[in-house]
Amino acid sequence: MNSSTSQRVLSGMRPTGLLHLGHLHGVLKNWVNLQHEYQCYFFVADWHALTTEYDNTGIIAQSVWDMIIDWLAVGINPGEATLFIQSKVPEHAELHLLLSMSTPLSWLERIPTYKDQQQKLKDKDLSTYGFLGYPLLQSADILVYKAGLVPVGDDQVAHIEFTRELARRFNHIYGREADFEEKSNEAIRKMGKKNAKLYKDLRKRYQEQGDGEALNTARVLIDNQQNISLGDKKRLWGYLEGETRTILPEPEPLLTAVAKMPGLDGQKMSKSYNNTIALREPPASIEKKIRTMPTDPARMRRTDPGDPEKCPVWQLHQIYSDDDKKTWIQNGCRTAEIGCLDCKQPLIDSVLAELAPIRERALGYIEEPESVRAILNEGCEKARATARETLEEVRQVMGLMYR
Ligand code: TRP
Ligand code: SF4
Repeated sequence: MNSSTSQRVLSGMRPTGLLHLGHLHGVLKNWVNLQHEYQCYFFVADWHALTTEYDNTGIIAQSVWDMIIDWLAVGINPGEATLFIQSKVPEHAELHLLLSMSTPLSWLERIPTYKDQQQKLKDKDLSTYGFLGYPLLQSADILVYKAGLVPVGDDQVAHIEFTRELARRFNHIYGREADFEEKSNEAIRKMGKKNAKLYKDLRKRYQEQGDGEALNTARVLIDNQQNISLGDKKRLWGYLEGETRTILPEPEPLLTAVAKMPGLDGQKMSKSYNNTIALREPPASIEKKIRTMPTDPARMRRTDPGDPEKCPVWQLHQIYSDDDKKTWIQNGCRTAEIGCLDCKQPLIDSVLAELAPIRERALGYIEEPESVRAILNEGCEKARATARETLEEVRQVMGLMYR
């Protein structure tokens, strides 16, 4: 695969409130790991927030700021990853518009999140053009950086699949060249006899037998060629699969096994369930929230035995406690040897210990808004430079250069 694109990871987050433990365990820890391995682009999806908060924009500005600070506080390193704000890179909007011209309405309407979210957020009027088009905006976010890998949750996989279909359609419509086949064959010859034969064999294996491994091997082969141009590489990549050049490569979802973070009430931790612990929550408030968490309803009195399986506190121990502690709880709860407060204390200690350094770093950044601004400016510039290149190419194949 073309390493400069496929090794690029992109992900975004909507700024609609303070980040909490669910974001930390479900998303951010993963990002922190990814930044060492890949070229990562992480952005604040402020336009995405507008698709549902268009009548409540006040929350967005503050959340953008808080979000960047929280990212930095949990260890996203601006020296490794590029951090930016979506609306500071207007190329996202341009690509969104250009892609919209060839996007069938039915493709958007059948994306499951469209109807699901409308159902879920009944108090909002989401029968808008912007809301219907939000997966397309997401596709533009991804394709404008030619990202190969997109870390997302299960609920977003359909959006990546949609992005793949759009890219395929785009390449099909705009990747055609009159003499594509000849040019491809010429490029194959330039690889030299041995590699040319290898390429042809791999292409055949993929086209005739659907051998995906052959496809990947062929892509690596193309990428490793020293003496053929970038244009030829695009042709050879496209020629593997069909009759067109690959202008916008198809991304893949990156599904990392992450802990589903339970909230204080046992449901998934989420702002809309009001069961969160914020990353910057003051320690006294964290302590109070955990102390007042519901437990197994059968344990009315201290002397009643309980069942951890029926208790949200136990679910949090799954994330925070080692085997010894878990055994202690299982035995202690079922025999009523420990009380619920005994059980909760180590949890309080663990959460406080986890969040103390994060909170401290966040407070540091709050006191230095200039350095946060500088990080963002640099990230936005870097992102924009990449996005501009893609748009140049897109305008060119669409015949919009006027030069
Ligand atoms: N739609 C994502 C969400 O709601 C956020 C997002 C916007 C995103 N653009 C993206 C995620 C691009 C990955 C890639 O969570
Ligand atoms: Fe829940 Fe722990 Fe109380 Fe058992 S002892 S009911 S696991 S809080």
